[in-house]
Amino acid sequence: MNPKQLAGEKAVDYVKSGMKVGLGTGSTAYFTIQEIGRRVKHEGLDIEAIATSIESERLAKEWGVKMVDFSEIDHLDVTIDGADEADANLNLIKGGGGALLREKIVAFATKFYVIVADERKYVPTLGAFGLPIEIIPFGWEETFREVTALGCTPKRREKNEEIFITDNHNFIFDCDFGLIENPHDVLQKLQGIPGVVESGLFLDKTDVLIIGNNDGTLKII
Ligand code: A5P
Repeated sequence: MNPKQLAGEKAVDYVKSGMKVGLGTGSTAYFTIQEIGRRVKHEGLDIEAIATSIESERLAKEWGVKMVDFSEIDHLDVTIDGADEADANLNLIKGGGGALLREKIVAFATKFYVIVADERKYVPTLGAFGLPIEIIPFGWEETFREVTALGCTPKRREKNEEIFITDNHNFIFDCDFGLIENPHDVLQKLQGIPGVVESGLFLDKTDVLIIGNNDGTLKII
């Protein structure tokens, strides 16, 4: 089985009827949503869910998953999401799909945060994957200069030769910091820059990392 599918489906073991569930974004979380949807439709799994992207919400709705928002619930019991990189401390880089802002809001509302990934994502040190940062369009050129001054090379994300716009109508910078030896320091500096809405550094949040290996085995950390 595809390692993303292996990890994505395994994580659904954490989801029980009556729970409020956060649904991640990306090609691994896709398998999680499909499996949750299957259990809702065919096995009577009864949950309320909030999705981290318009795309994930659409997929969940197709399966008949009951979607709510933060005016209706004040926490999530469990969230299952993907990652672009994860280290041994379970710190993450996320945002390859551009959903990092909603993903972080959902992560912080969550009591139990599960990350699903294939084995390529598990790294000794974060940073080979360029760090995604969500930026307000107003004055983005100045924000670009400020972010560059932190010692990275940002690139404004494009898709199909057009500027990539997030679900929140913002831009993304993908920033090459090289290997990030002190992610807490980088996160703190980014949070001090006006125009930076959020970064893809998810630190000290993950409870469980489920890795699907190419040989068909799972590793749970
Ligand atoms: C979305 O913005 C991301 O944070 C994804 O969760 C991350 O990019 C992992 O995506 P894949 O599972 O598609 O690799």
